[in-house]
Amino acid sequence: MKKAFITGIAGQDGSYLAEYLLSIGYEVHGIVRRNSTPEHQSSRLSQNLKNCYTYYGDLHDTSGLQSLLTKIKPDEIYNLAAQSHVRISFEIPQFTGMTNALGVLNLLEVYRQVCPEAKFYQASSSEMFGNSVDEDGFQRETTALNPVSPYGCAKVYGYNISRNYRNSYGLHIVNGILFNHESPRRGSNFVTNKVVKTAVEIKKGKKDKLELGNMDSHRDWGHSKDYVKAMHMIINHNKPDDFVVATGVTHSVRDMTDYVFSKLGLNHEEYVVQNPKFLRPEELKYLRGDSTKLKETFNWNPEYSFEMLMDEMIEFWLDNIE
Ligand code: GDD
Repeated sequence: MKKAFITGIAGQDGSYLAEYLLSIGYEVHGIVRRNSTPEHQSSRLSQNLKNCYTYYGDLHDTSGLQSLLTKIKPDEIYNLAAQSHVRISFEIPQFTGMTNALGVLNLLEVYRQVCPEAKFYQASSSEMFGNSVDEDGFQRETTALNPVSPYGCAKVYGYNISRNYRNSYGLHIVNGILFNHESPRRGSNFVTNKVVKTAVEIKKGKKDKLELGNMDSHRDWGHSKDYVKAMHMIINHNKPDDFVVATGVTHSVRDMTDYVFSKLGLNHEEYVVQNPKFLRPEELKYLRGDSTKLKETFNWNPEYSFEMLMDEMIEFWLDNIE
């Protein structure tokens, strides 16, 4: 039975990845950060999954990581833990850097010393591109990295140090450069889930407006379930490499909002107001990923379209808001 170790196992991607790996016969171990409301750690991942074990841990606590990896001896390590909110990274830039940049280095060092025969996946992000777009309107593995947020800058460090460790020490380390990916498990302060949840609350008479920031930015939105399968393919490639994971389809925040409200029989223009609080000091305006390398190497194709993704999220909130 193969063993996987997942940091960020309680998150959207961590929970879907754990379920996927369990379904194909893995034993799964993962760390969650201790906080004062334990419900936050178990809301996504069922506590009764067979062959799934969670521990308190943190990317800043290298001695804890060392004893866990020594004990578990994983075959695959997935580093998904991060301060994952881009706008909030402007409010807590140092914490974001310590976690999303130095946290990667901490884990790489423990891995290199304790279980260097394992494979290592680093969760890199399309936020690393910033406002770089190739002439044909896509970002891909060769597009310049010009991050525009503390989050993006820290992720560039994580990406580069992972490549550096791969090249310096001959370790099997890979980067998945994932474009935005959502699901009903998405935190409700990310734009898709915020829009869907609030639109359903408006529909049910619980709210009368939706406050947003910039509605003109474009994102390439896929489903987290499709993307965690790509993570597993990427880490198991016969040679360690870096891959973009994206749908190749982009929508503006305005179009996504219009889609959701229309599905509920509402006109978004009657409810949406701009609140400067949700604007970013510097904005990443346009993302559209080219996943040709991933598709040609693994025959990966997302099962979810944008519409199927949004419909699943709408259904979820219709069922879960009284
Ligand atoms: N969160 C949020 N809240 N975003 C808003 C709002 C709002 O009220 N109004 C407009 N937006 C715009 C943001 O300015 C951004 O352009 C877009 O909606 C998407 O914002 P998020 O959903 O917060 O995602 P993100 O693109 O900043 O970051 C996500 O994707 C990255 C991959 O590119 C996160 O999942 C990152 O962790 C991930 O790396």
